[in-house]
Amino acid sequence: MKNKLPDSFYNLISMAGAVIAAITFSLIIILAIVTTILDRGNAYFGLIIYMILPGVMIFGLILIPIGMYFEKKKSEENKGKLPIINLNTPQHRNATAIFLFGTAILLFASAIGGYEAFHFSESDQFCGEICHEVMKPEYTAYQTSAHARVGCAECHVGSGADWFVKAKITGLYQVYAVMANTYERPIPTPIKNLRPARETCEQCHWPEKFYSSTMRKEIHYLSDEKNTRWDINLTVKVGAESSAKSLSEGSHWHISPNTKVEYISTDEKRQEIPWVRYTNLETGEITVYDGDDSIDPDSLGNYEIRTMDCMDCHNRPSHNYRPPAVFINEALARGDVSPELPEIKSLTMELLGEEYPTTDSAMAAIRNGILEFYSEDYEDIFEEQKELIEKSIVGVQNAFNQNIFPEMKVRWDYYPNNIGHFEFDGCFRCHDSYHESEEGKVISNDCNQCHVINAQGPADSLQVAKFGEPLEFRHPVDIDEMWKESLCTDCHTGLNP
Ligand code: HEC
Ligand code: HEC
Ligand code: HEC
Ligand code: HEC
Ligand code: HEC
Ligand code: HEC
Repeated sequence: MKNKLPDSFYNLISMAGAVIAAITFSLIIILAIVTTILDRGNAYFGLIIYMILPGVMIFGLILIPIGMYFEKKKSEENKGKLPIINLNTPQHRNATAIFLFGTAILLFASAIGGYEAFHFSESDQFCGEICHEVMKPEYTAYQTSAHARVGCAECHVGSGADWFVKAKITGLYQVYAVMANTYERPIPTPIKNLRPARETCEQCHWPEKFYSSTMRKEIHYLSDEKNTRWDINLTVKVGAESSAKSLSEGSHWHISPNTKVEYISTDEKRQEIPWVRYTNLETGEITVYDGDDSIDPDSLGNYEIRTMDCMDCHNRPSHNYRPPAVFINEALARGDVSPELPEIKSLTMELLGEEYPTTDSAMAAIRNGILEFYSEDYEDIFEEQKELIEKSIVGVQNAFNQNIFPEMKVRWDYYPNNIGHFEFDGCFRCHDSYHESEEGKVISNDCNQCHVINAQGPADSLQVAKFGEPLEFRHPVDIDEMWKESLCTDCHTGLNP
């Protein structure tokens, strides 16, 4: 029988290559059709269909010419000659037809495959699930954030070929780091190659858009026996009081087109800010504010001067790891942890203040700690309220799992949140009334500059403000005037003060 293809094709390497390519190609098509029809399949299917199988197929295809090359080299007469394609011989005609036809199909398939691979490599599943151990903290926090429906890539990659290429190149390194287990735990921030906030965030929230004030109701529980509930209702001034004044007042004044606020920070996490410069872009007026440890004007050149953008306040828009004091307050308010159990707030603060090596050890410590405490200190409650105690244990454990990730060493204290000033210095990094200009102007910490308090106090005897007359802050426990004289973070660090 005469061969249908050039003789050189009939060798082990080429034929094995052809078989590999044919099988993987059929597998890709079948799997792609099945996952499309079923509209199911998880991240691993994507990884196999669009990344691993095509790689194997290309390997098979490359084997074909390699085998043919070695086969040709075997015969003496062909040494040093290029192959001749003679379309008059049926084998060569067949081979050329297969080659052209195959290339056309492959090009078409790889256009679709490439598109799918691109989408897949940008998908939240790829980012959040494939590296699940590494990205678990980010993915978990993300799913309960305001941005749960905004793709990871929308903030971390964005559009445009340059950021795409940058992301894929650093991405390749990251894949290597995960496989070789050399990545850092926790992942350090600020992220050096994050696309600038002004490009990312402003696709959806542009600075000229006016946001009016927002109302917040914060529910707190004290660490006393009764877990006394203490409410605070605030109106946070995001924009001005009247929309006509738009960004000229309120928190978003910093990003108004007429404002430029720059600063120097002396630590990696941008928590120490000894120098601030405000430029009024309309009048050209410049004010420099020096903090406590001011910077010698001659050495300004040694520091990076950063222009304030969204990220200097909203640095945790989608991965907010809350401190225990906050997430237990929330769990108590939701009822996941029962405020009827005496001392549950202070007990959980104590348990969550420990640093646990693994999630499992934390789960066990929470369970044992709570059981032990009630069986020893409140025997009758331990006997009568078994269900409530059990439910609260699960509530604390779930809240822990949403916010603390021992395996990745992710905790609130490693990722400070710059909005506010309660557990992290945040706004008070500058607004501490110690940053002063030569003319004696300070960056104010007037309690009514950024928000007004509308109501505060124990839920059953709330002190309520008259319209237009904000209340003076009342600290829930008596600490004299300390809250005026020191930063809240001098006592509040996310656990019990
Ligand atoms: C709304 C925008 C946004 C979205 C959506 C988003 N991120 Fe982030 N991400 C950020 C910002 C901002 C930071 C903090 C950057 C900094 O401090 O330098 C960050 C930080 C991170 C970090 C560094 C570690 C950390 O916890 O700070 C990782 C890892 C990360 N994101 C992964 C993801 C993954 C995975 C997804 C999707 C499941 C995602 N991000 C979705 C904005 C976003
Ligand atoms: C692809 C669009 C998109 C991008 C990009 C985006 N956001 Fe958002 N953002 C949203 C949506 C949608 C919401 C939810 C709006 C709502 O709940 O009414 C939101 C809500 C918010 C909120 C309100 C949070 C809350 O708890 O209600 C803040 C603050 C915010 N975004 C900041 C940012 C910052 C900072 C960035 C850049 C790192 C960013 N966003 C990037 C779409 C986006
Ligand atoms: C000086 C700090 C600061 C800067 C800079 C800043 N914001 Fe805000 N922003 C706030 C505060 C404070 C709030 C009130 C919400 C809160 O307390 O969580 C807020 C609220 C928001 C909201 C929610 C509004 C609503 O009605 O719920 C969005 C969206 C937002 N900011 C986007 C941005 C974007 C985008 C940028 C950058 C262009 C930016 N912010 C820069 C402080 C800031
Ligand atoms: C890098 C330093 C810096 C940080 C951080 C900072 N601010 Fe400011 N802020 C300034 C400066 C400078 C001014 C102008 C002070 C002046 O000259 O009156 C200002 C002014 C303001 C004003 C008054 C605007 C007006 O004229 O009505 C508000 C409100 C405000 N900041 C809110 C905030 C909030 C809320 C945060 C935290 C989420 C914050 N700031 C964080 C530097 C900062
Ligand atoms: C530079 C702006 C600014 C100044 C000045 C300021 N605050 Fe705040 N404060 C904020 C912001 C922003 C939040 C909201 C944080 C958030 O979104 O969770 C906040 C939140 C609070 C809360 C609620 C905390 C919680 O989680 O329940 C209290 C209470 C509070 N501030 C008290 C004060 C007192 C008292 C002063 C004066 C000593 C003061 N603030 C000065 C910006 C400011
Ligand atoms: C001198 C230390 C100290 C300073 C400064 C301080 N606090 Fe407190 N704070 C306490 C103590 C002690 C408690 C009682 C702890 C408890 O019962 O959980 C407390 C409790 C609270 C609570 C209720 C409990 C909770 O954690 O939910 C709020 C709200 C609060 N403080 C707000 C503030 C604010 C806002 C500031 C800054 C303006 C501030 N505190 C400054 C010591 C301090």
